Amino acid sequence: MKSFRLLIPYLLRRKWVIAIGLLALVLVDLAQLFIPRLIKRAVDQLTLDQATTLSLLWQAGVIVLLGLVMALLRLVWRRMVLGQARQVERDLRGKVLGHLSTLSIGFFHKMPHGDLMARLTNDMDAVRMSVGIGMVAFVDGIFLGLAAIGFMLWIHPGLTLIAILPMPLLVLITRRLSRLTHRRFTTVQAAFSGLTEMVRQDYAGVHLIQAYQAQGPVTAHLDEAGRDYVRNNIKLVRASGLFFPVMLFFTHLSAAAVLLFGGRLTINLAITPGDFVAFGAYLALLSWPMMALGWVISLVQRGAASLARLEEILNTQPEVKNAAQTRPAPDGPGEISINNLDFTYSGSDRAVLSGVNLIVQPGKITGLTGPTGSGKSTLLGLIGRLYEVPAGRVSLDGVDIRDLDLASLRSKLAVVPQDSFLFSDTVRHNIAFGRPDADDQAIRAAATLAGLDKDLKSFPDGLDTVVGERGLTLSGGQRQRVALARAWLTGAPVLLADDALSHVDALTEQMILDGLLEKDRTRTVLLVTHRPTVLARCDHVAVLAQGRIVDQGSPPELIASGGPYAALVERLQLLEEMGGPGDTLDAR
Ligand SMILES: Nc1ncnc2c1ncn2[C@@H]1O[C@H](COP(=O)(O)OP(=O)(O)OP(=O)(O)O)[C@@H](O)[C@H]1O
Ligand SMILES: [Mg+2]
Repeated sequence: MKSFRLLIPYLLRRKWVIAIGLLALVLVDLAQLFIPRLIKRAVDQLTLDQATTLSLLWQAGVIVLLGLVMALLRLVWRRMVLGQARQVERDLRGKVLGHLSTLSIGFFHKMPHGDLMARLTNDMDAVRMSVGIGMVAFVDGIFLGLAAIGFMLWIHPGLTLIAILPMPLLVLITRRLSRLTHRRFTTVQAAFSGLTEMVRQDYAGVHLIQAYQAQGPVTAHLDEAGRDYVRNNIKLVRASGLFFPVMLFFTHLSAAAVLLFGGRLTINLAITPGDFVAFGAYLALLSWPMMALGWVISLVQRGAASLARLEEILNTQPEVKNAAQTRPAPDGPGEISINNLDFTYSGSDRAVLSGVNLIVQPGKITGLTGPTGSGKSTLLGLIGRLYEVPAGRVSLDGVDIRDLDLASLRSKLAVVPQDSFLFSDTVRHNIAFGRPDADDQAIRAAATLAGLDKDLKSFPDGLDTVVGERGLTLSGGQRQRVALARAWLTGAPVLLADDALSHVDALTEQMILDGLLEKDRTRTVLLVTHRPTVLARCDHVAVLAQGRIVDQGSPPELIASGGPYAALVERLQLLEEMGGPGDTLDAR
């Protein structure tokens, strides 16, 4: 329940509109409460033979008028209260999305994307329902309930007491059911998250499912998750669905008691037949507040369970954040110095990097190589502080990167990640992602440097071709070069390219390197690569194995010294001579 605190500022922001909406709601209730009074009068006049066509016409007219006013007022409260609930949902979503954008990459590695999507959609819906409908049913139920009881007391206190006798029992039952609903709804939402994640993964890997003919097992797996979701929902309904039947049963009990005792009171002339009919009408009105109570409790429990799931995100602190005092990245040439760096991923006890020393010099190309899993991508990620770096180990132009403002540090880095992710947007927007204001000429120049000229001509709409989901309508090599152009266009002084041309043929790769060497000799470039032809063109090369730098220097020096680098290159050349793949390198 404490989670609802989160919503207070958003509700306060709109308190007047909500108040007007709730006022309209109360006015509808008042009108509704007035109708049994009219009916009482009509019945009394009828039984006393005092009714005339005119009096009936007048009473019918008032009911029609009240009906019209109620319809209008109902429109008002729906628009005001339910509309504002949508706005509160929007605010909350904005807050969660804003917070998510500050969270470190590690959070997204741990939180399945399907789960995240479910929280942002399904749980948001539950929160909105608890705010909008919940508030309406609450105010409506309380007001209508109290007013109906008031009118009933006015007619006959003793009869009222009999009619509301079951209520304390109802409160007890409701309390038990609401706790159960809360627990079961949390399970249902978790099951929905699991299902969403499963569907997301299956569609992302649909090519594998087809290639491996795995439709059967995958469908069975999904089916099982679907069944599980249904099972959990049925359990939930068994708890929350009990509210209505139980409440309705009690209203029928009350109706029976009123018929019996109220009927006797009418026979004994303690109340008039009109009172008796009006009492029945108020009792019928009371059944709605009683159901509303159950509904509100169910909605609020669901909303609370969902809010708690959203709060979990909001309570997650970013692993990497600005220090209390930061400075902007210096306007230096972009020298990166790594000094005795050790690193272990949080939650793991195995060091991924140990005692790494490396200077990445500006205006030079530094190559980084080593077997798969040796820690190359991790090292690049640490330079951009995607993960928290130990203090004093990595610096940019002489300043510890932990002392730099994060945004400013990252603006100095042009990154080509290993997975060359593209957005399902045009090639143009993908290239200009880091510099949305770039003009056509700059975008084309970056594309040319990345060797995309020919490809662009073959695309149906050139730069304006829309690439499919995650860029999957492009070839692997095309995607990599779009990612390279994107990094290039930022103009950041440090280029970090993680195996960025592994899917590009060797000739095209050489051509791109030519461009890099000729036109871009001012940047600091750190390239992860497995190709000896590329390594040979680097100014400085480092070989990483199991998190340690086992060899580093200029390529000719390293070849001459006959160390691990020379051994790697030799093995690779042998592979090439044997007609091997020639573009993979294994240092083990
Ligand atoms: N987010 C993570 N959490 C825990 N361990 C990780 C994480 N990412 C990578 N690792 C582990 O860290 C080690 C280094 O991984 P890294 O991705 O840096 O290797 P790499 O040299 O880039 O390999 P490759 O050539 O295959 O890209 C691996 O053993 C990997 O299993
Ligand atoms: Mg890697």
